[in-house]
Amino acid sequence: LIAPASADFMAKLVHGRADDLLSLMCLARACPLLVAPAMNREMWSAAPTQRNVEQLKLDGVKILGPGNGNQACGETGDGRMLEPAQLLAELVGFFQPKLLSGKRVMITAGPTVEPIDPVRVISNRSSGKTGYALARAAWESGAEVTLISGPTALSTPYGVSRIDVETAQQMHDAVLAHANNQDIFIAVAAVADWRVANVATDKLKKIGEQTPELSFIANPDILATVAKLPHGPWCVGFAAETERLSEFAHEKRLRKGIPMLIGNLAQHVMDADHTTVSIFDVDGEHPLPSSGKQDVARQLIHAISTRFTGTQA
Ligand code: CTP
Repeated sequence: LIAPASADFMAKLVHGRADDLLSLMCLARACPLLVAPAMNREMWSAAPTQRNVEQLKLDGVKILGPGNGNQACGETGDGRMLEPAQLLAELVGFFQPKLLSGKRVMITAGPTVEPIDPVRVISNRSSGKTGYALARAAWESGAEVTLISGPTALSTPYGVSRIDVETAQQMHDAVLAHANNQDIFIAVAAVADWRVANVATDKLKKIGEQTPELSFIANPDILATVAKLPHGPWCVGFAAETERLSEFAHEKRLRKGIPMLIGNLAQHVMDADHTTVSIFDVDGEHPLPSSGKQDVARQLIHAISTRFTGTQA
């Protein structure tokens, strides 16, 4: 990876020059080459640079960026080197197998938040880590990823488009607005099953010993709704249980009408960085070894792509 790569160095690469150590190493290499351009916006958009970029792509060089923003010369525009963290994400992604190349994947993640009054909410302990790890792994495998997320403390994985929602109803509406042009839908969010029916318009005040009475109405089941769409995406569900995982997970997969469900024991994994999951499908239960959430997410994307591709054959 050459970062930063100047306009001049890219021109040298195009011509196969080898009059310094770096260009010589590039010419004599037997490995992939990635280049992160960094230059003034006029230099970037200039015809010779654009010709060189096209030629480098034809030569099999992967061009990372450039980014857009403030430049050292005081101008603003295209030509900034990508941020180091973005380059790292690109580099890690470059070496992952492109199992979902060109596919569209939509993922829900995190908790939902249901208001009680203007200052109080009901939510749950979901951190969003598993959903975000899956979004990252899906992007690394070549997919175009839309992440529909409840409130979390996590930053958006590089390359992923994120839509923020709060309530289950908002998540439902955002998912349905995008569902028809997706190939795969992975429902990871911990969606509140109920919302408060009598949401107070003003803050509930303490009145003596009186306790507030809340009544509830059911939220729509997002996953079950998407699974029933006539031309909807291939659906994957999650089940976080606290007991009898196999029994509940098999039953849930059939009840939601989905080909694949990933189950785990909630008390072991909520907010943790490690996870232990099992895959449930028509052939039964397939446990995966315990590992970090990102590693498990990559294994799950592999399992999802294998089953999804099987249905497309
Ligand atoms: N889910 C959803 N919409 C809901 C509830 C759940 O899309 N309103 C999705 C979750 O994202 C997850 C799966 O359905 O992929 C299972 O969620 P869970 O809450 O465990 O299932 P429930 O249907 O609520 O079943 P139970 O009450 O038995 O836990």
